[in-house]
Amino acid sequence: MSSAQRKDDHVRLAMEQQHAHSGRNQFDEVSFVHHALAGIDRPEVSLATVFAGISWQAPLYINAMTGGSVKTGGINRDLAIAARETGLALASGSMHAYFKDPSCADTFGVLREENPDGFVMANVNATASVDNARRAIDLIRANALQIHLNTAQETPMPEGDRSFASWAPQIERIAAAVDVPVIVKEVGNGLSRQTVLALPGLGVAVADVSGRGGTDFARIENGRRERADYAYLHDWGQSTAACLLDAQDTGFPLLASGGVRTPLDVARALALGAAAVGSSGGFLRTLLEGGVQALVTQISAWLDQLTALQTMLGARTPADLTRCDLLIHGPLRSFCTDRGIDTRRLAQRSSSTDALHEMTGSTR
Ligand code: FNR
Repeated sequence: MSSAQRKDDHVRLAMEQQHAHSGRNQFDEVSFVHHALAGIDRPEVSLATVFAGISWQAPLYINAMTGGSVKTGGINRDLAIAARETGLALASGSMHAYFKDPSCADTFGVLREENPDGFVMANVNATASVDNARRAIDLIRANALQIHLNTAQETPMPEGDRSFASWAPQIERIAAAVDVPVIVKEVGNGLSRQTVLALPGLGVAVADVSGRGGTDFARIENGRRERADYAYLHDWGQSTAACLLDAQDTGFPLLASGGVRTPLDVARALALGAAAVGSSGGFLRTLLEGGVQALVTQISAWLDQLTALQTMLGARTPADLTRCDLLIHGPLRSFCTDRGIDTRRLAQRSSSTDALHEMTGSTR
């Protein structure tokens, strides 16, 4: 099968999944403790976020998806226009199709052409040569490089990779050779605390946990198999909320993606320690069903509503959300117990900081 055909399949199967999804995921097991006097005035709220020396005007981004075929080149054009119109950062899909067939360069190059001044991320896998990682960055004048980890996708993929031992040393080689920050990301199965802790030693600057709860690539690849005999890998991995809880004390810069459905999920992920929050499948659905204007409208509404939520929660910046009290319920709570994560501390953290004094106006 050609790589262009595979890219079109991914879009089609991801959209089928969007329609079949129950709509529930583990973000539903995270709630804010409501403090009725915590609110501030809307003009005090900023959405700006800074992490690993990177500054974005909003803590939201369009995460990696596509490129490599005529159809997906059109999608990249529209995503780039939406990013330009809303000021969001944007990632390319895997650029391996370009390494194999340079004639599809335009389907990726359009990300930069349509968005000359935006923050654009290149995307490769952990087997990319150093030269190819550099070519990917050069083609779209990328501001950062994403390297994706996807063992639970490769395993059921008929033509998938079966050798994973070289990934960590190759990430280290790439990170040492490129002159933009390297972001290691999953593709919907989540990064564990142990994985995140390994990244600084490899020269990686940021981890995008990209957990379970939205697009499920094990399911997509299983759907491309003749006998669909890997169905037991569906829903593999940790949810995005679980990953953030797991990695919250690592001190490493975190991004969150995977199953982000609403501005409240964005606020939840920020409160769990993400510096910014990404969406792929959900934004793609809006684009394919309503066109680029619908996506611009959705992103603008999310930014407006995130500002409203920060106002209600008393968070002047996205980082201030990490001082809000959070309750963890259901299976996510069991995950915390088993992984040694203190949910009582999360539920009471505002009283142990200046936040309570600010909330009550006390100057003590
Ligand atoms: C993806 N994703 C992805 N990730 C990556 O690093 N390289 C890639 O080429 C792709 N390709 C891709 C295609 C399509 C159609 C989708 C929907 C997604 C994974 C993506 O970046 C993200 O990690 C997951 O999709 C989880 O986020 P959502 O979709 O639940 O918001």
